[in-house]
Amino acid sequence: MYSMDNDIDHILVSEDALKAKVNELGAQISRDYAGKDLLLVSILKGSVVFMADLMRAVQIPCAIDFMVVSSYGGANTSSTGLVKIIKDLDADLTGRDVLIVEDILDTGITLSKLVPVLKMRNPGSVKICTILSKPSRRMADIEPDYCGFEVPDEFVVGYGLDYDEKYRNLPYVGVLKPEVYSGE
Ligand code: XMP
Ligand code: MG
Repeated sequence: MYSMDNDIDHILVSEDALKAKVNELGAQISRDYAGKDLLLVSILKGSVVFMADLMRAVQIPCAIDFMVVSSYGGANTSSTGLVKIIKDLDADLTGRDVLIVEDILDTGITLSKLVPVLKMRNPGSVKICTILSKPSRRMADIEPDYCGFEVPDEFVVGYGLDYDEKYRNLPYVGVLKPEVYSGE
């Protein structure tokens, strides 16, 4: 039977490693946000899998919300420009402690534009939790407050991350075989 596993060249982060790390992050967030009004903000679609796991690893009451954003223009766009909000939050952020949940911090341009937009809404705080980070690709002056794994500069799929909207449902993070891109 055809399985998505056949399309994977190598695994970067296993299912077990993801599970252990998410539990660790959940425990840390539970300690750091105890007594606070925590709102987890998932950036769709890439972070849905991480969000679903992380929210259950958080052991304090919290609210959740979702947002769809896209950066204007390409990589040479000014990092002080605004982000385009395709789907905004429903929640009022006033006084609340916002934790942005992301799949991967790559150049950092998207979040470097989104964070100031959210800060304009008078939250108590805004921090970033990402399951993956590619530090070698960073262009904007931004780092995650909570980070699962640093990955090399390879295009990764799985655990929410897609190639052409597919492979988000892989339970681990991996790199596709070259022939999958070339469509052989
Ligand atoms: P920034 O602004 O940090 O954008 O460059 C981060 C967004 O880019 C996407 N991205 C990836 N998606 N595999 C993916 O499937 C990757 O290796 C990858 N690197 C970046 C992702 O949507 C992330 O939110
Ligand atoms: Mg994304």
